[in-house]
Amino acid sequence: MITTRIVATGASVPDMVVTNDDLAKIVDTSDEWIVQRTGIRERRISGGENTSVLAINTARQVLERAKADSEQVDLIIVASVTPDYGTPSLACMVQKELGCVNAVAFDVVAACSGFMFALSVADKYIKTGVYRNAIVIGAETLSKIVDWSDRTTCVLFGDGAGGAFVEASTEGDGILAEELGSKGELCEILTEGQTLCANAFNEVSPDEAAYYIYMDGRAVFKFATKMVVKSAANVIEQAGITADDIAYVVPHQANARIIDVVAHKLKMDREKFYMNMDRYGNTSSASVPMALNELNEKGLIHRGDKIMLTGFGGGMTWGTMLVQW
Ligand code: UT7
Repeated sequence: MITTRIVATGASVPDMVVTNDDLAKIVDTSDEWIVQRTGIRERRISGGENTSVLAINTARQVLERAKADSEQVDLIIVASVTPDYGTPSLACMVQKELGCVNAVAFDVVAACSGFMFALSVADKYIKTGVYRNAIVIGAETLSKIVDWSDRTTCVLFGDGAGGAFVEASTEGDGILAEELGSKGELCEILTEGQTLCANAFNEVSPDEAAYYIYMDGRAVFKFATKMVVKSAANVIEQAGITADDIAYVVPHQANARIIDVVAHKLKMDREKFYMNMDRYGNTSSASVPMALNELNEKGLIHRGDKIMLTGFGGGMTWGTMLVQW
């Protein structure tokens, strides 16, 4: 049986560090409030580099680490809600810069679950033998769609990209179980980037569009704790393992309190949940692969370890996977 295994990970963030104290100078907030309510201490913010720059840097790193030749890459998928353009896709921009001339390249949109959805798509192509390998990236510059005068959202988000090189395996490792889900009826609790239908015959003021991030924080919190717990339990059952068999959980880095609730409900050791939101905040589709890469770079993952990846976000959407390293 063919499975999809992760052979290399990578990440890229802008150099600019914005601390909670920096934000307290522009909105009515404090380091104490942000740390207590979210666990975030600082985030990286673009000094001008757009999402494609972060995606390309990450793709280059995973390709080098996988020791793969760019012409051998079959598939490039980038997940993002903040692409440079409507078209070309970020994936095509990555393809051009890396010279992956034989790859098929496209983007997917599933907000903070984006990397999980992109990895799932790559997995299906690989499992069915259509392609042998893929570069899968989550990349965002959320700073361009944040309302910097709204303290309820601007303290939460950051910019960055993370990704993986995945390939076909016949050794029984890789993605062993997954659950993706969508709840469109909740689509209005988290929105960004609305464009209205303006044309020569229908004038609309750009101010009427909900361009910046809007979030009903409490509703998202409730959704996240419910769906992450449910999908994690389903994936554990599907894989025929117990929670104790899992070495690490790499969750979406939205809020440390969400992770506390999830760990408690799953009766899992909180220490198994890897977190780096203190330094990067919520980077949407980049958050799970950035955290996975950090875990990997620290040498904390060993061959044979079972790792759970789980994301949730706008749509509303969620995705959980069990991966054997
Ligand atoms: O990736 C997308 C997924 N997003 C998420 O997972 C977010 C999920 N939600 C959350 O993480 C939390 O709901 C937040 C961190 C967004 C908010 O935390 P909360 O504990 O739910 O706070 P709240 O919205 O209930 O607000 C409590 C108070 C309010 O003041 P009043 O009405 O009690 O006087 C807010 O106005 O905190 C106030 N507040 C702030 N105060 C200082 C809201 N934002 C701030 C702020 N600084 N930045």
